[in-house]
Amino acid sequence: MPGFVDSHTHLVYAGNREQEFIDRINGLTYEEIARRGGGILNSAKKLRETSEDDLFEQSRERLREIILQGTAGVEIKSGYGLDLESELKMLRVIKRLRDLDLIPVKATFLGAHAIPAEYKDNKGGYIDLLLNKMLPAVGEQKIAEFIDVFCEKGYFSANETKQILEAGKKYGLRGKIHAEQLSHSNGIATGVECGAISVDHLEFCNDHDIALLKKCETMPTILPGAAFFLSLQLPPARKIIDAGLPLAFASDYNPGSSPCGNMKLIMSMACIQYRLTPEEAFNAVTINTAFACGLEKEVGSISPGKRANLIITKQIPSAGFLSYAFGSDLIDEVIVNGKVYT
Ligand code: NIG
Ligand code: FE
Repeated sequence: MPGFVDSHTHLVYAGNREQEFIDRINGLTYEEIARRGGGILNSAKKLRETSEDDLFEQSRERLREIILQGTAGVEIKSGYGLDLESELKMLRVIKRLRDLDLIPVKATFLGAHAIPAEYKDNKGGYIDLLLNKMLPAVGEQKIAEFIDVFCEKGYFSANETKQILEAGKKYGLRGKIHAEQLSHSNGIATGVECGAISVDHLEFCNDHDIALLKKCETMPTILPGAAFFLSLQLPPARKIIDAGLPLAFASDYNPGSSPCGNMKLIMSMACIQYRLTPEEAFNAVTINTAFACGLEKEVGSISPGKRANLIITKQIPSAGFLSYAFGSDLIDEVIVNGKVYT
């Protein structure tokens, strides 16, 4: 089969957030942890203290892990730097991962992931920095293809998201949005209006949003790892497909809300929790995710002209068995660029 395509990850990060996992088990919510300075800001602190080479080594290990789990193409975001130098450091690490020439890697600038601690009471100041310093540097250095915003209460409003995506367009960066994850914040409508390539998460996606998505090319993308890990209400996957839309499922591999990049598990979750058929789930983690991150010409299906990035499974009775046996490692070999990857 073709390898998986993972259209939404934050796999460049420093350390982990295991302590917050324990805090949530003990009753705190993701939002409460973030308000105490944990969450994304915790990862930003760790990332700023980590050297570029160390960050690269930690991230390369994660890239190797997901390739062995069958991922054949990946999108990776910045967003744990939250200042000019640290965001550029992350994007350089993503470039170094791409230059390893293993699987294709797309880079997304996510400076608008959170308001950094030093701008706690001055969001406008941070947006100024983002628009007038960070974005021009990212644009001039040509080290990202996409620009993403966490459109959410306490993070960036729909209006701010629109402003940031429109500014990104001037540098040739196409939009992606973290939309409707923790509340309905009009991220989908903003994504559709700005011609985003995808809108991701969608826990609070409503019927009006689905109608908007019908009129455009923006790919709705569900991240079941994050909904599972944070015990969120489930996005309306079945409704989206039954409305005649394509749907992508990606991992959201990140230290805070989905410390897992295993796309075979994501495919199983699409069937078990979201009632996709195994065939729909297969499309959702291959060709649809490829379209969600601009990799459809390279990976996502076995076709002439695409890369030979493939999975050879162990002996199984049917393709659907991969989703059914949700905890089993059924991958025998992974082929990257026509060669067995070990
Ligand atoms: O996709 N929603 C915002 N961003 C990430 C979480 C990042 C984090 O907690 O470190 C997400 O879930
Ligand atoms: Fe994310």
